[in-house]
Amino acid sequence: MALWKTVGNSTLDGVSRVADLDASKLTITLSETLKPIPPRDTWLFGNIMTDHMVVAEFDPETGWSNPEIKPRGPLSLDPASSCVQYGTTVFEGMKAYIGPDGKPRLFRPDMNMARLARSAERMALPPFNIDQVLVLIKQLITVDRRWIPSSSGYSLYIRPTLMGTRMGLSVAASDHATLCIFLSPAGPYFRSGVKAISALAVADTVRAWPGGTGGHKVALNYSPGFLPLRVAQKQGYEQILWLLGDDMKVTEAGAMNIFIVVKRDDGEINLLTPPLDGTILPGVTRDSVLALAKAHAAGEIILPGLQQTLRIHAQERTFTMDDLWRWSADGRLLEAFGAGTAVIIASIGKIGFKSREDIILAEHEDGLGPLANAFRTTILDIQEGKEAWKDWGVLVDEL
Ligand code: COI
Repeated sequence: MALWKTVGNSTLDGVSRVADLDASKLTITLSETLKPIPPRDTWLFGNIMTDHMVVAEFDPETGWSNPEIKPRGPLSLDPASSCVQYGTTVFEGMKAYIGPDGKPRLFRPDMNMARLARSAERMALPPFNIDQVLVLIKQLITVDRRWIPSSSGYSLYIRPTLMGTRMGLSVAASDHATLCIFLSPAGPYFRSGVKAISALAVADTVRAWPGGTGGHKVALNYSPGFLPLRVAQKQGYEQILWLLGDDMKVTEAGAMNIFIVVKRDDGEINLLTPPLDGTILPGVTRDSVLALAKAHAAGEIILPGLQQTLRIHAQERTFTMDDLWRWSADGRLLEAFGAGTAVIIASIGKIGFKSREDIILAEHEDGLGPLANAFRTTILDIQEGKEAWKDWGVLVDEL
């Protein structure tokens, strides 16, 4: 699949060649007044925004405009814009951290950029140069650097967003687009901190389906889950466990990828997550958990709190609600946890389904099971620059 990495829209119509996104043409207008940074105990996920944003616009005649960094504020959108009428919005979730050296850094941003290009392509939005988007993100972080928190577990959440802005109601691809990148300081995703969450498994509404958009980060994957979430919350659960098909395959948990830990007959453990069959978001944290589990199994690292001799068999494999009930009844279901950029890792302590008895997982003192804790600690240490692993940590200063 083409990632539309470097070309302008010459690939769209085969005739015109228009300007590509070019970070070297960035103009910066700084805000005259900088906001005070609110105290951390008032930060909920995404409720506070920094001072500036990046904006660039695509026009099919001229291509990408010169990108701007300017004071953060509302965008002007025609109510007949494609993103308003037909939901042509795709986005990414990333985070910036301050390392012990005082330098801001990103975590595996190349994965987010590649996914943004794939999501844009899936929604037939105009192409753009992903390397230039990353340069713009780094420039914005540099401008709003004072907002990056330095305490562990806190970070600056980055939301690159691409919207279809063609004005008109014809049911077709948007040939105009706006790229907007903004930042929000973030603490723990759930109010409960790292306490285990509960999830209600639902089979009558689905998050994604074969051939749909579940494997892409499009806005429309999220909003249809708001009503089922409200229903689940009324029943006392905090998240939805998304199922798919008559066999009730377990797919995702809320807006997170899901992992389960199952004890095997030989005493070793399986770490299972559903395969990327097009219905599952290819999460950066998901990929990192799998890679770290494999590195532990290969003796390349020792995950904190786990014995070096503990064999973890990481597998991308389908499992169903029946499997969960069976493994739970047999005492083999050791852990369940969600993984995502916003949350990092959240243990799931209880899974409900209609009138059946809840699956209750073992409680852990600090809310996280041993594997969930090992992955969270390791990923956070790499993100916060306390540990180096492969090329996962990327310095913002290296433009
Ligand atoms: C993330 O984990 O970053 C997400 O994008 C999920 C959600 C906050 C939309």
